[in-house]
Amino acid sequence: RIAYVNGAYVQHSEAGVHIEDRGFQFADGVYEVCEVRHGLIVDLTRHLDRLDRSLSELRMAWPMARAALVVVIRQVLRRNRVKNGLFYLQVTRGAARRDHVFPADGTPSTIVVTAKRTDAGLIAKKNSQGIKAITVSENRWDRVDIKTIGLLANVLARQTAREEGAQEAIFVDPDGTVKEGAATNVWIVDAEGCLRTRPAEHGILRGITRTTLMDVAETLGLVVEERAFTRDEMLAAREVFITAATSICFPVVAIDGKTIANGHPGTVSQNIREAFFDIAE
Ligand code: PDD
Repeated sequence: RIAYVNGAYVQHSEAGVHIEDRGFQFADGVYEVCEVRHGLIVDLTRHLDRLDRSLSELRMAWPMARAALVVVIRQVLRRNRVKNGLFYLQVTRGAARRDHVFPADGTPSTIVVTAKRTDAGLIAKKNSQGIKAITVSENRWDRVDIKTIGLLANVLARQTAREEGAQEAIFVDPDGTVKEGAATNVWIVDAEGCLRTRPAEHGILRGITRTTLMDVAETLGLVVEERAFTRDEMLAAREVFITAATSICFPVVAIDGKTIANGHPGTVSQNIREAFFDIAE
């Protein structure tokens, strides 16, 4: 495998960054994960637009021109022969002697791009069987709308899910409303057949898959409402599913040990998944 690190294409096994990189010391960086399907990058423009927003919210400069970054991404995909999979890109505020305040102007940022193939069998299994989730109390900072690499709360939540035999952890606010998954957005199909997901203004990441799924829903004639729902409404929903660039749209069939609907993946999420790639590319 080949990785791109600060201007060079290097063997993945030998790739590294400086021990005083601010990503390593402070999680002072941002990232994107993007799906590749039949050799095409899904929603690249939206991902790069979000990267631009994340960088500017943290007052970080682009590591290189946007067009140059696209060239690097395509090179990494080509050199790793990824036709179906994903790429990961991370930008940090660079390496400098440890100090909480920003390093001197002109300190070069660190940029890393990697790519890998997806396990089609595993994805098919999750789609046909559905996944299990747990709920956990929201304990993250209030800027989770920025896609930063500071993901410790998400890591701990996912690990708890794993230890409880589930695949995703869903953050729930003290007011009882559902926020999002540890690495996914959460949707329900309510009693009226309406698709519902939390508004992205506050307290969640505005997922790219979430945005594109709204376009897909419209072409399928489905009604989408950006309105918060509670854990109880989620448990009583006709369908629950999660979305992310890595998984597109996985049905959730049990939460906290309680079965959702009849315990089988629902038709709405299946229809959406099938229509997704016609629109997204
Ligand atoms: N996670 N919410 C959180 C907290 C996420 O980390 C992600 C994505 C999403 C979905 O966003 P998108 O549709 O743009 O992938 C929502 C990536 C895939 C990850 O951390 O691996």
